[in-house]
Amino acid sequence: MVKARLFRLWLALGSLLTILVIIVYWDNVGTAHFYLHTSLSRPHPPEPPATPGPDEGRDSTSDVDEFLDKLLGSSLKQNDASRTQPEQRPSLASSRPSLSNMEESVRGYDWSPHDTQQSPDQDRLQAERRRVLKDYCANSSLTFPTKGRSFDDIPNYELNHLIVDDRHGVIYCYVPKVACTNWKRVMIVLSGSLLDQGAPYREPLGIPREHVHNSSTHLTFNKFWRRYGKFSRHLMKIKLKKYTKFLFVRDPFVRLISAFRSKFQLENEEFYRKFAVPMLKTYANFTSLPASVSEAFRAGLKVSFNTFIQYLLDPHTERLAPFNEHWRQVYRLCHPCQIDYDFVGKLETLDTDATQLLRLLKVDQLLRFPPSYRNRTASSWEEDWFARIPLAWRQQLYKLYEADFVLFGYPKPENLLQD
Ligand SMILES: *[C@@H]1O[C@H](CO)[C@@H](O)[C@H](O)[C@H]1NC(C)=O
Ligand SMILES: *[C@@H]1O[C@H](CO)[C@@H](O)[C@H](O)[C@H]1NC(C)=O
Ligand SMILES: *[C@@H]1O[C@H](CO)[C@@H](O)[C@H](O)[C@H]1NC(C)=O
Ligand SMILES: *[C@@H]1O[C@H](CO)[C@@H](O)[C@H](O)[C@H]1NC(C)=O
Repeated sequence: MVKARLFRLWLALGSLLTILVIIVYWDNVGTAHFYLHTSLSRPHPPEPPATPGPDEGRDSTSDVDEFLDKLLGSSLKQNDASRTQPEQRPSLASSRPSLSNMEESVRGYDWSPHDTQQSPDQDRLQAERRRVLKDYCANSSLTFPTKGRSFDDIPNYELNHLIVDDRHGVIYCYVPKVACTNWKRVMIVLSGSLLDQGAPYREPLGIPREHVHNSSTHLTFNKFWRRYGKFSRHLMKIKLKKYTKFLFVRDPFVRLISAFRSKFQLENEEFYRKFAVPMLKTYANFTSLPASVSEAFRAGLKVSFNTFIQYLLDPHTERLAPFNEHWRQVYRLCHPCQIDYDFVGKLETLDTDATQLLRLLKVDQLLRFPPSYRNRTASSWEEDWFARIPLAWRQQLYKLYEADFVLFGYPKPENLLQD
């Protein structure tokens, strides 16, 4: 009698457990499948015979990863099979938009035709950039903070520069002061994430600047936790594996000059209050300063490039808060040793790199990358800008940005670092 009751109890418990397992399983699968299904519409470009990155350890791939991976793989095949209709392609002719935007009409675009020939040289150049990056990530002679950590160790809030487009399978890490406004515009057009009177934007330059830089416009990795909960890291890793990842970089010192010009030489209320006022008080002995940037400029009160460099070199700055993204090192924004980028573009060769990248992403028929500015900060200005910065400061500044110089193949600016 007792035995029979015990048996029934076990049976009931067993069934309950099975049901529970099924529920949990389907809940997870349902969620994952729901989000993954609409993703890729394009196969990944062929992987180079690369050696795996230092942090791509197999051991971190759990069963769940593998399972999701298979799931994504099969949905990818489905999508490809069902894609018989090519996308409607807008005509590219006469696609020059009207420039309604202040900053852009001030700067002006250069619409003269550029050489868009694809050459094997460019593929070789790209392979070389990626090789240099990989070599120095593995080379212990180059050290910088956070170099050795794995992708899992990167906190969510440091993944806020990775913009994801699930429709084309693209991930872009944006670096401020490196054509990021226009690449963000491209990401908006690709993902169709922003509507203009009900229809997605099709022309990058048609998108107003304030929308481009509003973080709620973009799907970034740091938002995954809120959407996908405990699955967010697995999903990120799968997307990092399947999608084409790119970033654009620039000579680190020239990027600093560019940041200084746009944030402290133009009237910018936010940067005046948040950065210029404390800098002037701390490094230039001002005790009271005007409340608005226009008053300050009228009174001739501007942060000098010298003061800006002093601010960057002061260890106290970083203790108060991490560097603002406009001058934060690229290795801290984009984690190039943890993320295996497929394409490393450079501002110095923006036009040809953009053409090559859009072709690689197979979206070159869909849109055109906006042409270059006429008055971009030029590398040749570097010597003038640094002429009045003490040598010791220049050397310290190089140390601060050395990883960006080395990882992205910018030669050490010897002329600035020696007497
Ligand atoms: C690491 O980099 C240094 C300096 O560039 C170089 O001399 C050395 O050969 C590199 N080591 C390896 C293992 O690549
Ligand atoms: C960003 O966009 C959201 C949604 O469109 C809007 O509610 C918010 O006010 C915008 N933020 C800024 C700073 O413009
Ligand atoms: C600011 O004041 C301190 C002490 O009064 C002085 O030593 C320093 O040279 C001053 N700095 C500048 C930039 O005027
Ligand atoms: C470009 O910018 C520099 C410095 O901001 C300015 O002096 C120069 O007049 C500008 N040139 C043109 C053609 O607008």
